[in-house]
Amino acid sequence: MSTWLQNAWYVAAWDAEVESAPLARTICGTPMMFYRKLDRTVVALRDACPHRLLPLSMGLREGDAIRCKYHGLKLGPDGVAIEMPMRNDAPNKRICAESFVTHERHRYVWVWIGDREKADPALIPDLWPCSTEGWVFDGDYYHVACDYRLMIDNLMDLTHETHVHSGSIGQPEIMEAPIRTRVDGQDVIVERWIPGIDAPPFWRTALKQPGQVDRWQICRFVMPAAVMIDVGVAPVDAGATLEKHDQGVRGMVVDFMTPETETSHHYFWGMARNFDTSDPSITAQLKRQQGVVFAEDKEILEAQQRALAANPDLKLAAYNIDEGGTRSRHIIARAIRAAEEVTV
Ligand code: FES
Ligand SMILES: [Fe+2]
Repeated sequence: MSTWLQNAWYVAAWDAEVESAPLARTICGTPMMFYRKLDRTVVALRDACPHRLLPLSMGLREGDAIRCKYHGLKLGPDGVAIEMPMRNDAPNKRICAESFVTHERHRYVWVWIGDREKADPALIPDLWPCSTEGWVFDGDYYHVACDYRLMIDNLMDLTHETHVHSGSIGQPEIMEAPIRTRVDGQDVIVERWIPGIDAPPFWRTALKQPGQVDRWQICRFVMPAAVMIDVGVAPVDAGATLEKHDQGVRGMVVDFMTPETETSHHYFWGMARNFDTSDPSITAQLKRQQGVVFAEDKEILEAQQRALAANPDLKLAAYNIDEGGTRSRHIIARAIRAAEEVTV
């Protein structure tokens, strides 16, 4: 049993990462390559030539097709052979590389893992802050050598901020505010409401007014592998609540963890905000800051993965702070089991 759900959409790349030159990326254990056709639509093929399995991503683009670098087999964007290595041989239409269904939404290229006929764009996770009017979104990509679920655990438990991010976003008040974990359908939510505090420097600048604020951090796990963290502050007298808090300044950390192997994943991280949306320098600054913070997580999680391998006789323990991650893992595992029961 794999650790990820089949028949689901996963982020394959940021839209700007895919251009006419092939991009090689292993998604959920399958080597794939992506490129754009002349009409800008995205092609996704198995990254192995049907002949001798050389990665197709090493090949050369010709129009909308790709020619293998080894013996020159030419495949169309549907993966079907259109020219054989020997020019006089008629193309054999049964020779083809597997092709995958893709869709672009929320600034990402998504790929469907599972039965092609089931690929329905309506099933793409609703990462609404990435593409909603009034919000600006940007971010970047890290390759992380750990099980994607360790990153979900990390994002669903922000107590680690105190120690891992002591130089940036870690703050004592965060650790003192109680958290509440709940499940809403297939989403898991960890809420933290921090009333009547002095806004930390970042949020003070964003709010552009003095006085005490209410602050919130609401982590939401979204199947199959996303975490969105609603963060921000509002003046105390503005009447913001956990349920409704558009009175102040608000950001949404949006993270998608696409499994590469059982012990590595593609980390697409970013932040959307609804303040100072016309100032690109803030977008760039946020991205820089986030890059530093998430590099700190990457270092910790890769060390954790190595420790898991080095201590096969030991198990992860779960304390109260881990409830968000634990519940998210249960929802993933339950969905995988349910899908397997249907297939059997
Ligand atoms: S390996 Fe691709 S043509 Fe031979
Ligand atoms: Fe972190």
